[in-house]
Amino acid sequence: MNKGNFNTVAFIYDKLAGLVFGRSIIYAQVCHLRAVQPGSHILIVGGGTGWILEELDQLKMALAVTYVEPSSAMICRAMKRQPFKYIHVDFISAGYDGVSAGKEYDILITNFFLDLFKEEHLDRVLKGLYTLLKPNGLWLVTDFVNTDKYWQKALVRAMYVFFRLTTQIEADCLQDYATKLVAMKMSKASERQFYHGMIKSWLFVKPLTP
Ligand SMILES: C[S@@+](CC[C@H](N)C(=O)[O-])C[C@H]1O[C@@H](n2cnc3c(N)ncnc32)[C@H](O)[C@@H]1O
Repeated sequence: MNKGNFNTVAFIYDKLAGLVFGRSIIYAQVCHLRAVQPGSHILIVGGGTGWILEELDQLKMALAVTYVEPSSAMICRAMKRQPFKYIHVDFISAGYDGVSAGKEYDILITNFFLDLFKEEHLDRVLKGLYTLLKPNGLWLVTDFVNTDKYWQKALVRAMYVFFRLTTQIEADCLQDYATKLVAMKMSKASERQFYHGMIKSWLFVKPLTP
């Protein structure tokens, strides 16, 4: 099986996430969507079953969305959510590196995606995605963070055991995603926390000049 193949869990992913984290998993991912402006070109990487597309459609704005997802079972579920009323979605059945170089987006969304990679690979992923964002573009990130709470550490460990077994993801621990993005000169415009501080959602802005 390919590394990070979510086909095996696609049918149960949203239910499982909801069972463990309740509505927090949704609230965290929609909390910064108010920053979306009409006419934006949005790149969603590793979007899973695509429920976020329905949330974008509910903003009632014309948006051009590129949806990149390598799992055939996940993207199939996302495509079944069509037709949308306001947004136009291009589905790309590929990994993050399947996005054409040279394209630039106003908004990038990576939710529970950066946690799939080991640090060295993650650094390459971040650099690659950074180049796809326009100057002054927004990067919405939602992910788990390391905390001092024993039960949260245990839960993160259990999730990695589960996903490494079922999907062969390469990572076995979380990285400090926000610090890495700040080191890339992205400015943190907003940070919200959910589920007792275990999930964070950030709104980053790319500098106007490199
Ligand atoms: C943990 S799930 C998160 C799904 C969704 N963002 C959510 O929060 O509901 C990670 C998603 O990333 C996708 N993925 C795995 N490897 C990827 C890669 N190399 N490039 C893009 N997406 C990838 C998986 O197929 C999966 O749908």
